Amino acid sequence: MLDHLKETDYGTPERVSDNEVTLEIDGAAVTVAAGTSLMRAAVEAGIKVPKLCATDSLEPFGSCRLCLVEIEGRKGFPASCTTPVEAGMKVRTQTPKLQELRKGVMELYISDHPLDCLTCSANGNCELQDMAGVTGLRNVRYGFDGANHLKSQKDESNPYFSYDPSKCIVCNRCVRACEETQGTFALTIQGRGFESRVSPGQDQPFMESECVSCGACVEACPTATLQEKSVIWLGQPEHSAITTCAYCGVGCGFKAEMKGNEVVRMVPWKDGKANEGHSCVKGRFAWGYATHKDRITRPMIRSSISDPWREVSWEEAIGYAASEFRRIQARYGKDSVGGITSSRCTNEEAYLVQKLIRTAFGNNNVDTCARVCHSPTGYGLGQTFGTSAGTQTFKSVEKADVIMVIGANPAAAHPVFASRMKKRLREGAKLIVVDPRETEMVRSPHVRADFHLQLKPGTNVAVITALAHVIVTEGLLADDYIAERCDEKSFGEWKAFVARPENSPEALAAVSGVPAEQLRGAARLYATGNAEGRRTGSQVNAAIYYGLGVTEHAQGSTMVMGIANLAMATGNVGREGVGVNPLRGQNNVQGSCDMGSFPHELPGYRHISDTTVRSQFEAAWGVELSPEPGLRIPNMFDAAQAGSFKGLYCEGEDIVQSDPNTQHVAESLMAMECLVVQDIFLNETAKYAHVFLPGASFLEKDGTFTNAERRISRVRKVMPPLAGYADWEVTQLLSNALGYPMNYTHPREIMAEIAALTPTFSGVSYEKIDQHGSLQWPCNDSTPETGTSIMHTARFVRGKGRFIITQYVPSDEKVTQRFPLLLTTGRILSQYNVGAQTRRTANNQWHSEDRLEIHPHDAQDRGIRDGDWVGIQSRAGDTVLRATVTERIQPGVVYTTFHFPESGANVITTDSSDWATNCPEYKVTAVQVMPVAQPSQWQKSYSRFNAVQLGLLDAAARAGREDPVVSAK
Ligand code: SF4
Ligand code: SF4
Ligand code: SF4
Ligand code: FES
Repeated sequence: MLDHLKETDYGTPERVSDNEVTLEIDGAAVTVAAGTSLMRAAVEAGIKVPKLCATDSLEPFGSCRLCLVEIEGRKGFPASCTTPVEAGMKVRTQTPKLQELRKGVMELYISDHPLDCLTCSANGNCELQDMAGVTGLRNVRYGFDGANHLKSQKDESNPYFSYDPSKCIVCNRCVRACEETQGTFALTIQGRGFESRVSPGQDQPFMESECVSCGACVEACPTATLQEKSVIWLGQPEHSAITTCAYCGVGCGFKAEMKGNEVVRMVPWKDGKANEGHSCVKGRFAWGYATHKDRITRPMIRSSISDPWREVSWEEAIGYAASEFRRIQARYGKDSVGGITSSRCTNEEAYLVQKLIRTAFGNNNVDTCARVCHSPTGYGLGQTFGTSAGTQTFKSVEKADVIMVIGANPAAAHPVFASRMKKRLREGAKLIVVDPRETEMVRSPHVRADFHLQLKPGTNVAVITALAHVIVTEGLLADDYIAERCDEKSFGEWKAFVARPENSPEALAAVSGVPAEQLRGAARLYATGNAEGRRTGSQVNAAIYYGLGVTEHAQGSTMVMGIANLAMATGNVGREGVGVNPLRGQNNVQGSCDMGSFPHELPGYRHISDTTVRSQFEAAWGVELSPEPGLRIPNMFDAAQAGSFKGLYCEGEDIVQSDPNTQHVAESLMAMECLVVQDIFLNETAKYAHVFLPGASFLEKDGTFTNAERRISRVRKVMPPLAGYADWEVTQLLSNALGYPMNYTHPREIMAEIAALTPTFSGVSYEKIDQHGSLQWPCNDSTPETGTSIMHTARFVRGKGRFIITQYVPSDEKVTQRFPLLLTTGRILSQYNVGAQTRRTANNQWHSEDRLEIHPHDAQDRGIRDGDWVGIQSRAGDTVLRATVTERIQPGVVYTTFHFPESGANVITTDSSDWATNCPEYKVTAVQVMPVAQPSQWQKSYSRFNAVQLGLLDAAARAGREDPVVSAK
């Protein structure tokens, strides 16, 4: 076993109990929690018991019989993995008889196992091999000429792992991992006795089964039967570092297992608090993009977007960018430039970009992609609770009795959290799903939503107000909680508002499309734990999880406040198992917001107009700061078209693909005189750039990410930056060239500055993160050492919780005769956001194009069959996709993803946006859909533009290879 890579496996899961049990194992007294297995108790005491079918992430199964022990006064040899401790037991784990029995078991396993250890991919990291050694197996009496499985066919269908049945010992760990950890139930053991084999689905190849390629079975397999192909190709890793996934806001901890500077595999970290050893296909397997041939590793400049790129030295690129920003400011004024921080980059990097803009640019024209996803969360939770973040840990869901999922599909977008949630649902928690689409959360193996409120897009606020109406008028309020914790006046006003007859389920059913009885049942379930609304006397924990289906609406902020109202009204904030939980999209969207990426807020959500706060930053940064909030991203675009905004520094965000109304965004960028893009690929935005600064992937730098639980985790550099610099270093170079000095030597110094200037971060340091694995903000003198897991426990951050009236206002995006359908958008499991990373991996084998989902009735009315090309037209533009005809979507609604630039999903979305934050209304666009035979006009012109830009890039690369100065860099 490669010990440096392996964490202790306790054999069975930890048990939590107030009662402790003391027993004796191999003569030593051991005290453990009641319910602990003998195996775990032994391991906790430093005594290893041989095992094969047990592992501490799974419930014990007791099939291999290798872990037998002797217990004084008991007959036989019980399996230590399935036998719980009892007080006073005297257990022996090593006796001659046990040795003989274990050797016999191993002999049987090995007699049906290919003896190719030296050439096996798991050599050195195989539990079967280890156990042969531990049990002292020296020869195998049974011949290999009898019946065996040595010629069984391998299944190589999955791009990331292979299945070699000849090596399977039928320990069932993979099957249990798929059920218990992942919750997909894709595997079974087919056949009986000697014939029994692991089988995906109905004896299908993995790729044709229900398997979602999470890798839990591969991680659980003790042999090379299920093995990462990267390990088969590269061999066993040599060293490892703990880091954090750079995809979604779950923020899973991983061990990057390496050979030199090459990643061999990413293994989910058992001690990662966000994932506890689990992963999804993206973090586990889709990391190949980091070294993809499309990576741009040399800085480039050009004076116009029709010119060829010129590869230049870092010095020239930075000098050119700085001189352009200074020239623009001299000509058009200080406010004519701005920047966008990245929610893909680290906290330290987001902090530096906003600092550069406020200091070196001298304005507050900074924004981030949270503008287009969770800015309403920041506003809504700030107004009601006083803090712009979710209230819980992910683990908290294990205590929830009722789970309400609104406008989110965690199974696709936050898969590791979805697995946790499904586990709790299998244990009996109730589920309410509010979504226009029948997502995997509504119906999947062993999960059935108790209520699916299949509302019309754009009517969230009507639904949340109707739910509140039932709770208020049926006497289901948490009166004591409200009296103690909430603002009396705002509560009184809200109560009177929601109780009005026009806010009843019956009145709002037609608007929302949800039958009144379902609204009533769901409200009762949320408030009391049962659909009848019976008060049982015992405390019921109800938790709300929501996503972009809440925020990306004209009433996104109103809906967030409606959710907060509902949670306060039922007393569901401030303890485990409850709360209001925004499922953040990108890996560091929480962090980029925390770091002061909004134009009106300094780090820690403190308003730029606050003189006291501003003066602290002025003293630390040595400049006078503008007290005026700067431009938001949409305002930057409008100002660009009006001629007053001419220069943009855009780090790690592809605004052309991700922001609404693509043509408007592209025209705005074309109106600028200097667009500087810092990224790892020539993304869609970079095709409009004048300066390209190569970025670094998460594997190439140090820093921290903050996930949706406010958890700050380390990102660790495991390979040198391909272009020579980490992103924070590039920002620092640019700042210095602009005349504002930055001289950090490591991101830990940047975090020290953040901590010194931000009260909620004052206890955060790299040393403490290294010590505890992660910290949750607020983390300061008034919190525990590791920060705050549950927010608002004794009181709300703002003092008394504030109720806010949520008047439903229909969206301006209305269906008409010309645009009779509503388009809504979302994500798919295998692709990620604009797809820049996942499209450059084998994940394309699951999803290689964006499709339009349409209900059979709407398809039939238009003569559309599954797979046909269809034109989708809105007031903003049109595009063409292939149709998927499915009943997952309701009549009158169509749905697509937005992972491929050529799909142009955002060509159709409009610039309608949230009233409070300008978050675009991606989820509601009135469209018409018709069969077509050719791409849209936009797609044709995109295709031409794209070909030209890729040609200009190729020319630069060719010239760079021929230029000795550049190629020497
Ligand atoms: S594939 Fe691996 S985990 Fe599954 S039964 Fe076979 S040996 Fe055990
Ligand atoms: S990869 Fe995940 S989903 Fe697929 S079979 Fe293994 S555990 Fe199940
Ligand atoms: S759930 Fe999110 S953070 Fe975890 S592995 Fe998947 S993409 Fe990465
Ligand atoms: S490890 Fe206990 S029976 Fe297999």
